[in-house]
Amino acid sequence: MPKDLRSYLAELEQTHPEAILRIKKPLKAAYEISALQRKLDAMKKYPVIIVERPILDNGQESPFPVVTNLTASRELCAEVLGINPRRVAMEYAARVNNQMETVVVARGDAPVKQVVEKGDEVDLLKFPIMTHNYMDPGPYIGTGFVTTVEPETGIDNTCLQRIWVKGPRRTGYWAAITSHSMQNIIRWWERGEDMPVAVWIGHHPAAIAGGQSRLGYPESHYPSMGGVMGQPLRLVPSETFGERLMVPADAEMVIEGYVPRDVFEAEGPFGEYPGYIGPQRPSNVIEVSCVTYRRDALYHGIGVGLADHLVLLGNFPLEARIYSVVKSVLPELMNVYVPISGRRNHVYLQVKKTRPGIGKDAIMAALPCDSRLKHVIVVDEDMDLFNESDVLWSVAYRSQWDKDLVVVKGAAVFPLDPSLPSPGNIGTRGGIDATAPPPIGIGLPRFYQMINKTPEEVAQAIQVEDYVDPAHLAKYPTSY
Ligand SMILES: Cc1cc2nc3c(=O)[nH]c(=O)nc-3n(C[C@H](O)[C@H](O)[C@H](O)COP(=O)(O)O)c2cc1C
Repeated sequence: MPKDLRSYLAELEQTHPEAILRIKKPLKAAYEISALQRKLDAMKKYPVIIVERPILDNGQESPFPVVTNLTASRELCAEVLGINPRRVAMEYAARVNNQMETVVVARGDAPVKQVVEKGDEVDLLKFPIMTHNYMDPGPYIGTGFVTTVEPETGIDNTCLQRIWVKGPRRTGYWAAITSHSMQNIIRWWERGEDMPVAVWIGHHPAAIAGGQSRLGYPESHYPSMGGVMGQPLRLVPSETFGERLMVPADAEMVIEGYVPRDVFEAEGPFGEYPGYIGPQRPSNVIEVSCVTYRRDALYHGIGVGLADHLVLLGNFPLEARIYSVVKSVLPELMNVYVPISGRRNHVYLQVKKTRPGIGKDAIMAALPCDSRLKHVIVVDEDMDLFNESDVLWSVAYRSQWDKDLVVVKGAAVFPLDPSLPSPGNIGTRGGIDATAPPPIGIGLPRFYQMINKTPEEVAQAIQVEDYVDPAHLAKYPTSY
């Protein structure tokens, strides 16, 4: 059976029914769904949310439910890929590099073709596309996988890029200059032609993880989607461009159209993933020619800038890349974690400190892996890398800023950072070596103050559940 968004939800219902939050009350696609998602995120609760009765901007109820927070839980994301959530760095790369040939299916076998609307029949505003942040100019598709082809070779490219729905058949579309999609735009325009585009929405989380893999150019992402899913991705020709632009047969919906040559319109402001409102800028548009979708389509929305946006679609690939690059020069690297809190500006590394200098070697090796890495914190193997309290405790008690800090001024940085001195791509990057001194020789003890702990036999003997009613445990006051 082909894997898709609904097969995943059905499986989740069987294996983790407690992980699904089904909202039966009406919720507005503008701000309200996003508000609920943001509040749960602040509470560090990450169910998959299904809004059964989304309300459109015109006040009517949409027949298309919204599924969001699909990729917010680290545990669920790792499970769907068949990897250990604490070993993503080592295990994820192998999954994404696994490629599987695609298969082409007949139009009648493609669920995404159950409804086909062309020209003036198209009305994107009937879909419950979420508006996220208070300054966003309107509804944004945050889960649209933009598929384009390189015009000479016909090789397709797919990646997530935001789409502002401005009207029934017109959208804004922002492609970063560094993206392969932008390379395709440039090549089509150089030939004097509008660029064909298809934006597909809603698929199995493993498929979308494969779709977001970083590949060469031009190189199709479709075989990676199959590789990560563990079954060939089923494709079908698009309505507007036929076999020249293939689309996933098991998606929930596909929007087809053109990026018209030399047309720019104001796009944004937009609440960007670092958590700040990004500026309005001149951007491309899409003129929509056709929309195809399942009769009972599910609209996949995303929590922009929240864990939903960060974990699977950005942090997993980043952890895998940093691990592969740093490990190749530093065998003492043990693990890598890109925490949600740093919104991709922070990475925590764990090393086995067998000799002096390993912490700084790790910082120097990690920084060039990605321009978004601004601060690297290196900790010892006795810390829990995934517990930020341990990481900050290491900074507090295993570092001295005059000798352990690495500061690289004038470095290339990712521009979405309001702390940068002026607009541009140059800023300061660095890291802190928060590891204790190594042993003074092979087989010799490590001279550093010892950590408090309960005597082992007492720790074994005293079990919380012998003294506390487990049902009551969650009700006790917390602290921070
Ligand atoms: C939820 C989400 C939204 C994104 N939105 C955009 C966007 O609007 N424009 C953009 O250029 N990149 C965006 N990105 C980043 C690109 O998807 C990413 O850089 C991708 O690797 C580019 O792929 P490509 O070089 O193959 O085109 C987004 C990423 C995520 C996870």
